[in-house]
Amino acid sequence: MVASQSLKTTESQRILEEARHIMPGGVSSPVRAFKSVGGGAVVFDSVSGSKAVDVDGNEYIDYIGSWGPAIVGAAHPEVNAALTEALKKGTSFGAPSALENQLAKMVIDAVPSVEMVRFVNSGTEACMSVVRVMRAFTGREKILKFAGCYHGHADMYLVQAGSGVLTLGLPDSPGVPKSSTETTLVATYNDLESVRKQFENNKGEIAGVILEPVVGNSGFIPPTKEFLAGLREITEKEGTLLCFDEVMTGFRIAYSGAQGYFGIKPDISTFGKVIGGGLPVGAYGGRKDIMSMVAPAGPVYQAGTLSGNPLAMTAGIKTLEILSRPGSYEYLDRITGRLVAGLVEIGKECGHAVCGGHISGMFGLFFCEGPVTCFEDVADNCDFDKFGRFHRGMLENGIYLAPSQYEAGFTGLQHSEEDVDRTLRAARKVMQGL
Ligand SMILES: Cc1ncc(COP(=O)(O)O)c(C=O)c1O
Repeated sequence: MVASQSLKTTESQRILEEARHIMPGGVSSPVRAFKSVGGGAVVFDSVSGSKAVDVDGNEYIDYIGSWGPAIVGAAHPEVNAALTEALKKGTSFGAPSALENQLAKMVIDAVPSVEMVRFVNSGTEACMSVVRVMRAFTGREKILKFAGCYHGHADMYLVQAGSGVLTLGLPDSPGVPKSSTETTLVATYNDLESVRKQFENNKGEIAGVILEPVVGNSGFIPPTKEFLAGLREITEKEGTLLCFDEVMTGFRIAYSGAQGYFGIKPDISTFGKVIGGGLPVGAYGGRKDIMSMVAPAGPVYQAGTLSGNPLAMTAGIKTLEILSRPGSYEYLDRITGRLVAGLVEIGKECGHAVCGGHISGMFGLFFCEGPVTCFEDVADNCDFDKFGRFHRGMLENGIYLAPSQYEAGFTGLQHSEEDVDRTLRAARKVMQGL
């Protein structure tokens, strides 16, 4: 780790140095290592509300929020109280519990296309499982994804993005067999023509189209309404299932997810992050005739020792309950809108090419003129060195942003106007010195 000029990072450095020898890269998930912005990560000691405190005692306004789950604020007293009660009944049942019914009903009531739900333990597991179901339901093997959309790290999704567009995918990571990705097709986000071409070239072979209905894994990229509507129309015509990966957008863009926000009904969807309230959860759900394919109702095998875990269900239920209170999404939208508009304005005033956007509590900032409509726009046009310096400067001024332009940022109900003011003051100072 590179020592910071103004942050005390002695303890973070000590822990990360030890971690490097006992865990690959010193972390349990790659992006936490801050490799793409250099400078080294900080090690957290605690999170609360909109704040995180590191092991050296530095406090940050946290715009990652555990990569999405912390939408009601971290360590929310009501979530913690519910967890404390649940803990008394045990940490894992491995048997049915009423809590699963409760959370399943909340998801079904909230999300227009979901009639039945299966709980799993992560977004990766949800997206991996949904492909099996789509293939079994349609009797077809190919899936179509979009360059720059992330659906977890299962083999079939690790397909090279960008230049691999419109060709059969090649593995993106060593260890992924070609046989796992040769049924994965890639198209360009917000480009219906690239989708039509794939359907023309693979007539009657595509089981499902999966996408992030608002991209958060190439930075923040919203879809056009026409793009989502076009996908619905094409998939219906071709007998292909449409899957919205709402792991990031579910209960974040709106209580009804991105599908409710944009008024498009997919056949099946995946969830994670928010529905676990900070505990490990994923889920997939959709039309009853499709979900009835899943074991033990149907023949598609999928199982999990800790699936439907009572603590995770409890955190999810309480989080959704808090979110469903009037004004939640209006507040998220207002506060995040002010944050992004402020960052863009300050960036421009300081002479930088910047653009950004948000919906509710999800946002992004790019160092380029924009507009950014797909992964290639980010890869080809953004200034990554400048972003790295901006990120480090913000960190040193107590603002914890996602360490890559390919990541979205997140706010929660406990981010205050004062947090935004402080962030914008820090941004002005940092942008002036870039
Ligand atoms: C859209 C999307 N799908 C799937 C995943 C994978 O979820 P997990 O990290 O819980 O496995 C992520 C993770 O960031 C995601 O953003």
